[in-house]
Amino acid sequence: KRLVVLVSGSGTNLQALLDAIDATGAEAYGAQVVAVGADRDGIEGLARAERAGVPTFVRAVKDYATREEWDAALAEAVAAHEPDLVVSAGFMKIVGKEFLARFGGRFVNTHPALLPSFPGAHGVRDALAYGARVTGCTVHFVDDGVDTGPIIAQGVVEVRDEDDESALHERIKEVERRLLVEVVGRLARNGYRIEGRKVVIL
Ligand code: GRF
Repeated sequence: KRLVVLVSGSGTNLQALLDAIDATGAEAYGAQVVAVGADRDGIEGLARAERAGVPTFVRAVKDYATREEWDAALAEAVAAHEPDLVVSAGFMKIVGKEFLARFGGRFVNTHPALLPSFPGAHGVRDALAYGARVTGCTVHFVDDGVDTGPIIAQGVVEVRDEDDESALHERIKEVERRLLVEVVGRLARNGYRIEGRKVVIL
């Protein structure tokens, strides 16, 4: 299966996928990363792709007259690589109608909180501020909401008294990277069905 991965930052989730595919072999893993896209230049996530010899593309919102035009351009750039599955791994933009029309149902996101708790761009900070004793990460299909699509898998991470946002986020990311690698591999190898809010991996 062909994966396109979208990033906006350090790309450690992307790196985990690249390393797993490298170690297991694309055949056995069931997928390969055919391209990496970003909404901005100069991020470590793109450098990781380049080091792995994976083609990259950037579609920055500021380069387009409207959000819709950006959304269509991003969809075009992704479609050019003919993905079976699109993975948002720290991609910090909300995609629109055009993108979802083309990739809905095969667009997966990883979020550093236990959805439906703490959706949005500050899930780690919000869980900490709320005083949650456990938080974690969620891998889900993207729908037209923000972090509201059908949940595929979750991992639990305890919150420690001495945690600040970055310490907690790092501990979440250790779980998140493993969860993403496992889930993407199973979706790619086994296939799946989405039945309302339930995801059935075959
Ligand atoms: C991940 O925790 C992701 O869930 C969140 O931002 C982080 C991205 O980390 N949206 P990286 O870019 O994969 O290192």
